[in-house]
Amino acid sequence: MNIKIATTDPTSLDTEALVVLAIDGGDKDNNKPEFQAKGDAVNKVTADQVAAREITGRLFETTLLYKPEGFKSKRLLVVGCGKAKNFSSHELRKVAGAAVRALKKSCKSVAIVAPESWGGTADPSAHSTLVFERGGMPEVVKAIAEGAVVANPDYNYYHSDRKQYEIDELTILVPSTADAKALEQAAQQGKIIGESQNFARDLVNEPGNRMTPTILGERAKKMAAEVGLKCDVYSTEKLHELKMGAFWSVSQGSEEPPALIVMRYEPEGAPQKPVLGLVGKGITFDTGGISIKPADGMEKMKYDMAGGAAMIGAMRAIALLKPKVRVIGIVCAAENMPSGKAQKPGDVQIAMSGKSIEIINTDAEGRLVLADGLHYARQLGATHLIDAATLTGACVVALGMVNAGIFANDEEYFNKFAQALKKSGEKMWRMPVDEEYKEQIKSPIADIKNTGGRYGGAVTAAMFLKEFVEDTPWIHLDIAGVAWQEDAAPWIAKGPSGIAVRSLIELVRSFA
Ligand code: BES
Ligand code: MN
Ligand code: ZN
Repeated sequence: MNIKIATTDPTSLDTEALVVLAIDGGDKDNNKPEFQAKGDAVNKVTADQVAAREITGRLFETTLLYKPEGFKSKRLLVVGCGKAKNFSSHELRKVAGAAVRALKKSCKSVAIVAPESWGGTADPSAHSTLVFERGGMPEVVKAIAEGAVVANPDYNYYHSDRKQYEIDELTILVPSTADAKALEQAAQQGKIIGESQNFARDLVNEPGNRMTPTILGERAKKMAAEVGLKCDVYSTEKLHELKMGAFWSVSQGSEEPPALIVMRYEPEGAPQKPVLGLVGKGITFDTGGISIKPADGMEKMKYDMAGGAAMIGAMRAIALLKPKVRVIGIVCAAENMPSGKAQKPGDVQIAMSGKSIEIINTDAEGRLVLADGLHYARQLGATHLIDAATLTGACVVALGMVNAGIFANDEEYFNKFAQALKKSGEKMWRMPVDEEYKEQIKSPIADIKNTGGRYGGAVTAAMFLKEFVEDTPWIHLDIAGVAWQEDAAPWIAKGPSGIAVRSLIELVRSFA
């Protein structure tokens, strides 16, 4: 999607569709929606629908008018933003997305009038305190660009009669008094971030036969060459050389070789420290291994590389946005399969760190590949670690499909991440990592075991990872419940969500 900034008067813009936002006026005496466009043209052309309460400004309400009087545009789309007190950059991002999704079947180019106000007093308590942001004009433009780009794709690539409905050109109309250069930059940043989220979603969308560890490595390499990142992709030999016994144990049952993907972003002039280490779980298909999963729903386990994809997407954006901070991205990719060569319950594996692990359940494989990935990131010099993984069904039980789980061993680092969430608008909720939980992963035969029993499964999985980060500040994101969306929303297609990409980008930028 091409995105440009213009200061043209909305009424005189010749376009396929003009989008105007409406804030729900339910709080006001006259109940009338408040349109985010100067002048009287929108009020006039919508007067009847407003009087009939067909246009109210309710969140995601869309009303399409043809040949609107007083406008050069062929169509006028009015999109509701909800009540002013709830309206933040995060609603705006979604509202812009809803506009794109409402128009993309009929239009190739659209223009959105950027809101100049948030329409009233904010009520942060209406939201999770982690996610409320009302920025100035650059944030407004960035949110619109991100939302529009993320709304564009549909994941129907394998329908032979597929039609590609996408908006090619978006114009964001801003006041002529605005700092055009700053807004142009904000639009391009939003576009890079949205496209990087989409890049990750594309990887996750691919089925297991078309996204093996080797292919994931190739895709990362190709992207890295395009954006100027260093990227090495290793396989079996390197795992043995590095003594990555935990990572290897997962891949040993598959005919598909593993891939250890190492991306490096080392901008000139960046200080030696900090070095952020981004580590992703890249299980391209999770059958469970010998502890095989039930057939019902197993096809979904192609998205078990969503954490790895998030890291690759985030590295793409970082290379393009060029913050002055060093970043290493590591993805541990493997297929978890049962076979005559597969690891068995009861086996003992020695991780790269030297810790011994008793395998209780071969389906708890994500923590095994991450154990070596996290240790390797530290060895390569990472001073701060963050991992993302579709790690546990227990996290889905705890938080459902709304929030990802956050686990952190360092308050200062966690607070920085909470700020990043405020910018990204992604929903995540903190979970504990108290030492008491460690009891559950003690093993009679090895240093630790790879499962912690029935209770607190998301926490004991995090406790396992914690063993491999030692005293390095670390954040673990369990995205099992939110990496794949069962249903479409007004602002996004169903399928891969691209969760964590935007928050990772904002976290890295906050260190620059
Ligand atoms: N990839 C799964 C977790 C998962 C579940 C992701 C649902 C997405 C949706 C993970 O490898 C797994 O199998 N975890 C086990 C751990 C258990 C054996 C301790 C689980 O959650 O059941
Ligand atoms: Mn598993
Ligand atoms: Zn898994």
